[in-house]
Amino acid sequence: MTNLQNKTAVLTGAARGIGKAVADALIQKGANVVIGDILDDEGKALVASYNANGKRAAYIHSDATKYKDNVALFQLAEAEFGGVDIAILNAGIISHSNNLFAPFDDSLDEKMMDINMTSVIKGTKVAVLHMARRGGGVIVSTASMAGLYGSTVELAPYTASKHAVVGYTRSFDMLPSVCNVRVNCVCPYWVETDLLSDLKEGSPFDTLVSKSPKTKIKTVVEGFITLLEDETRIGQTLLALPDGLKVHDRPTGYESTAVDPSHVQEYFKEDVGRLKEQLAQALERYEST
Ligand SMILES: NC(=O)c1ccc[n+]([C@@H]2O[C@H](COP(=O)([O-])OP(=O)(O)OC[C@H]3O[C@@H](n4cnc5c(N)ncnc54)[C@H](O)[C@@H]3O)[C@@H](O)[C@H]2O)c1
Repeated sequence: MTNLQNKTAVLTGAARGIGKAVADALIQKGANVVIGDILDDEGKALVASYNANGKRAAYIHSDATKYKDNVALFQLAEAEFGGVDIAILNAGIISHSNNLFAPFDDSLDEKMMDINMTSVIKGTKVAVLHMARRGGGVIVSTASMAGLYGSTVELAPYTASKHAVVGYTRSFDMLPSVCNVRVNCVCPYWVETDLLSDLKEGSPFDTLVSKSPKTKIKTVVEGFITLLEDETRIGQTLLALPDGLKVHDRPTGYESTAVDPSHVQEYFKEDVGRLKEQLAQALERYEST
């Protein structure tokens, strides 16, 4: 089990809600936290409360959809605390205004995918370089139950964005062999946070959400902490349900007798060396900019 004491964690979208609750738990366990968000007043106030008894936290305005901001966030953690061990990629929105019959609006549809999905891709790419330099680390993203199950017309873009986070997470089984980085995600069911205020306009869907059971935020936090501390957790999607945590098992095989999964295992072995070379080049490029 990893002891989180003195580890340094970078969190996106942690000025409030689930991200803040995870930051609280990390601080309680003795970790340093570096928070990036677009809600500057909330983020600064949170960090000031953590630092009231000695420096343990830092805040920076950081739009998780931008490489430049991700780089500044992770570099702040390195400058303040000497390196990055943990990344919590949590920034997200749910707005259901961009449903199937909304007006055609590029920016509306792109925003949902950018904040919920592309931010995880960009955050992971930057995090991996910092962690490789450190000798390893662990990334946990916030997906959703909507990342594993179909939902409703109103929630279709959100559902698509969260399926993407699950697929992305499940693509890094080789990473521990390449640079000792584990990648996992937590999939919460509905949680009472400000995110749900977007779903209070009185539509039948909003009523469905308000009547649905909720996952306690402490269960979600327990999910994050489990994935951070338990080094055997690799590529896991951990459901945070109203009645507790549950690992979502991946489908086994390829649903086809014509496909032999051992081919992929062979490829894994052969590709680790090539990925290590690519990582070395990426680090050189990153350090020279
Ligand atoms: N609340 C739920 O029911 C629920 C269920 C499943 C998954 N989730 C996921 O949990 C995560 C956290 O949501 P929450 O419920 O705590 O909601 P929240 O609205 O309280 O928190 C989201 C945080 O993300 C930040 N954020 C938004 N866009 C950003 C950007 N571009 N860059 C940086 N930060 C940005 C917000 O400012 C906010 O601090 C999201 O990814 C959400 O999709 C929430």
